[in-house]
Amino acid sequence: MSSHGAPIPMISAKCGPLSGIADVPGDKSISHRSLILGAMAVGETRITGLLEGDDVLDTARAMRSFGAEVEKVADVYVVHGVGVGGFAEPDHVIDCGNSGTGVRLLMGAMATTDISVTFTGDASLNGRPMARVTDPLALFGTQSVGRRGGRLPMTLVGAADPIPVRYTVPMPSAQVKSAVLLAGLNAPGKTVVIEHEATRDHTERMLKGFGAEITVEDTDAGRVITLTGQPELRPQTIAVPRDPSSAAFPVCAALITEGSDVLVPGIGLNPTRAGLFTTLREMGADLTYENERTEGGEPVADLRARFSPNLKGIEVDPTRAASMIDEYPVLSVVAAFAEGQTVMRGVKELRVKESDRIDAMAKGLRANGVEVDEGEDWWIVTGRGHGNVPGGGTCAARLDHRIAMSFIVLGMGTEAPVTVDDGGPITTSFPIFEPLMASLGAKITRA
Ligand code: S3P
Repeated sequence: MSSHGAPIPMISAKCGPLSGIADVPGDKSISHRSLILGAMAVGETRITGLLEGDDVLDTARAMRSFGAEVEKVADVYVVHGVGVGGFAEPDHVIDCGNSGTGVRLLMGAMATTDISVTFTGDASLNGRPMARVTDPLALFGTQSVGRRGGRLPMTLVGAADPIPVRYTVPMPSAQVKSAVLLAGLNAPGKTVVIEHEATRDHTERMLKGFGAEITVEDTDAGRVITLTGQPELRPQTIAVPRDPSSAAFPVCAALITEGSDVLVPGIGLNPTRAGLFTTLREMGADLTYENERTEGGEPVADLRARFSPNLKGIEVDPTRAASMIDEYPVLSVVAAFAEGQTVMRGVKELRVKESDRIDAMAKGLRANGVEVDEGEDWWIVTGRGHGNVPGGGTCAARLDHRIAMSFIVLGMGTEAPVTVDDGGPITTSFPIFEPLMASLGAKITRA
């Protein structure tokens, strides 16, 4: 919800070796989709391993407001869906808190049903662009009116007689792609979405699992996804895999902290999500995949990360950007401990996340003695090598969970402690971050 409490300043100091097992929570992207698709199926969907972060809990609340039943029975989230086109009109404003994924997917899911919904969020979400979603939704016949610049709060009037759409997504965004596909569910005929760069494909995989007719073709024009509208979605039993974007934090912390050896079990390595780990290995990280297996149709492995004193800066392959888009902040922290420059290009999307992540990281890294150069869609971190990153600075989290966690990781390897002005947002995606990192040996205190 948008009502954040008082800021929670946190200080992260150099610690001994990090060691042990890091059981990170469920995948945020898959958790949102499980609730939304469960609500659009007919019957009872059962979800284990759901991420109980604020973002996902806001989506669960929203689904109840749209008429689905969502309840927790022991460790299982049970969703009684209302079927495609079956959403009721909520009688109050839908507050998506901090979650761009939540609001954009919900907009898509309701866009082709004859209901009106007003969406809002916290100060971060209300500053983010929504036209990227409402523009394609308008092609179905959905109307929207929000604040200037396509910002929340915003009301969408769902199309009573939706028409199917053919849409090429202009930026690499799984949220936009997914919003169009979810809207296509209640349009008659075939909705076609084309993306030039492959972004995370959880929506496509899960729609197939729920029984929709959906095909994906790699063509010269890009990835062409074709969905046949108005299916009856079959309820599913879903085991949410653990989140590679959360795994990134204990993995990166172990790489920069002397003597560390951390095991992060059961991490999804879907190629549309695992770009960070490939990049870290190219930088010379001692990061291995153990016990590689397939679970629920997804490649999964236990990640073993050990202290890596000889990291090298690299030019990160820009074609990999979409598969590691949420991981650039923590990658820039690792880059500070490498020898030489780490060059990150083709990352304009970082400027419209929960915060402008290039600006937020550049300012915080500079405050801790690390040189950063930046342009609109690129940035370069000049590494200082292990044992040479001064620290001692204060960083602004800007209501961005990944910025807060990245700077806490930074402090684990710097000479002087790093202060983060507000660790409160961490609960949006990784509510057990503090106790989990402490159990590995991290020294995080609340100021
Ligand atoms: C997400 C897509 C990405 C990512 C976000 C989750 C999703 O956003 O940054 O954390 O679950 O679809 P964009 O679609 O804006 O790239």
